[in-house]
Amino acid sequence: MSPGRPVDPEPTSLRESWEAHAGEWLAWAGVPGHDSYWRFHREAFFALLPAPGRLTVDVGCGQGRVTADLVARGHTVVGVDGSPTLAAAAADRGIAACVGDAASLPLGDGVADCVVCFMVLQDVDRFAGAIAEAARVLRPGGRMAWAVVHPVNSAGRFEPGPGSGDDPAPPFVIRQPYYRVQQYADEVERDGLVMTFHSEHRPLQDYAGALADAGFVIEADRTDRARSRRPVVPDAALPRRRMPPRGRRRPRVSRPAVIGPGSPMPGRHPGFTPGGRACGPTAPRL
Ligand SMILES: C[S@@+](CC[C@H](N)C(=O)[O-])C[C@H]1O[C@@H](n2cnc3c(N)ncnc32)[C@H](O)[C@@H]1O
Repeated sequence: MSPGRPVDPEPTSLRESWEAHAGEWLAWAGVPGHDSYWRFHREAFFALLPAPGRLTVDVGCGQGRVTADLVARGHTVVGVDGSPTLAAAAADRGIAACVGDAASLPLGDGVADCVVCFMVLQDVDRFAGAIAEAARVLRPGGRMAWAVVHPVNSAGRFEPGPGSGDDPAPPFVIRQPYYRVQQYADEVERDGLVMTFHSEHRPLQDYAGALADAGFVIEADRTDRARSRRPVVPDAALPRRRMPPRGRRRPRVSRPAVIGPGSPMPGRHPGFTPGGRACGPTAPRL
């Protein structure tokens, strides 16, 4: 196991980069217990979801590990992914999955009760379009539930100073302008598996703005403050490219938000009527 390292983003779209690294992702996400999904994200996320309805759409389903868990919990799910390799892998395991872009979903207006987008929005080229599409396919009062890499995680890093020894809480430093949107790539190695993540840093307000523009109401943010005060967290919670030495780990800054009743807003998206709701979970990637 070695720390990840930042690498130059490839000169392609994020979607093409994910297809290029689909084989790595199949291995990475296919080993139970390998990343944070299995260790803590899964239960925290599913606790937020509404009861199964007519249709749940899993946007950015990958090879379908979240989709399969949704099915196990009684949801009728359609998975959509931009990577033909990953969508095919999901279909191979019996999941109703298809190739499609998050910003142009191959679904009709108002067909879904719930849109799930688990650790995807930071990896898509047109995240605002993806949020608008979620609004379009949701029925009135439907819910969107998502998790993303927290923008603080993608903006900065712990920087132990000279002589800081085993200081468990070195300063967390943001050197780039937090508000600057930029692509980045992390090559990560863990337990013999290598994965290169291609993503885009963007400030939290960009997500909030896109949700508001699509007519969503954000109902609550369930930041786990107790956890966020802990200076040392499990390996699984950490973005490895910025992994400081053991004992200088990044705190988990927040966890998925709550979805619940909210004040209806006038629908701003064609086909989307008041009452749509979203939760904007934010979390470390790994
Ligand atoms: C970090 S993976 C998450 C996969 C899955 N949700 C999971 O947790 O196992 C990000 C996924 O987003 C997909 N993706 C990237 N750009 C996309 C786009 N424009 N439209 C749909 N999916 C996209 C990738 O192919 C990849 O499967």
